[in-house]
Amino acid sequence: MGTRVRQTPVVDGERFRQALGRHAAGVVVVTGPGLVGLTATSFTSVSLDPPLVSFCVARTSTTWPDLRKAATFAVNVLATDQAEIASRFSVRGIDRFGPPTSWRPGPGEVPILDGTAAHLLCEPYDTIAMGDHWLVVGLVVDTGLGSPAVPLLYHRGRYGRFNPHSG
Ligand SMILES: Cc1cc2nc3c(=O)[nH]c(=O)nc-3n(C[C@H](O)[C@H](O)[C@H](O)COP(=O)(O)O)c2cc1C
Repeated sequence: MGTRVRQTPVVDGERFRQALGRHAAGVVVVTGPGLVGLTATSFTSVSLDPPLVSFCVARTSTTWPDLRKAATFAVNVLATDQAEIASRFSVRGIDRFGPPTSWRPGPGEVPILDGTAAHLLCEPYDTIAMGDHWLVVGLVVDTGLGSPAVPLLYHRGRYGRFNPHSG
């Protein structure tokens, strides 16, 4: 399956957004040296061997030009009580790493956020132009687990928590 050559009309934007609104996702903040970072729900695992993960970043992102220079970056998996952090890292023109954000320098001067469910330390593996986004693939070189194990979720513009079926 290669890049599709368009023959038939694609779905209209509103119907596309409505369908995506039925999808829930975990929330991550991707951080890099120079104190850059942005919130993303497009994170997913890609491969176990080698260990690869991916996220998509908009071509319009003002963070991406700095993040793409990173020799190492971190995917911070937000915990259920970190909705405020998610919002902070999606707003332009503020110091995203200022209080109440709490972080520590990791390997390669990569900022690691405190209080997360987990983080994955990655080296850039591939970056592919994909429509109006970049598809960024990272090779996971290390991971860390936080004590809050429950991840933050995002669905139809709202943050929430996973509520498992009983039994
Ligand atoms: C819950 C949530 C999920 C987001 N997911 C993504 C994403 O997957 N990719 C992306 O490029 N932007 C995503 N954004 C938007 C970016 O966080 C935000 O637009 C961006 O950080 C704007 O600032 P920038 O110019 O520094 O990129 C998301 C925002 C929120 C609130």
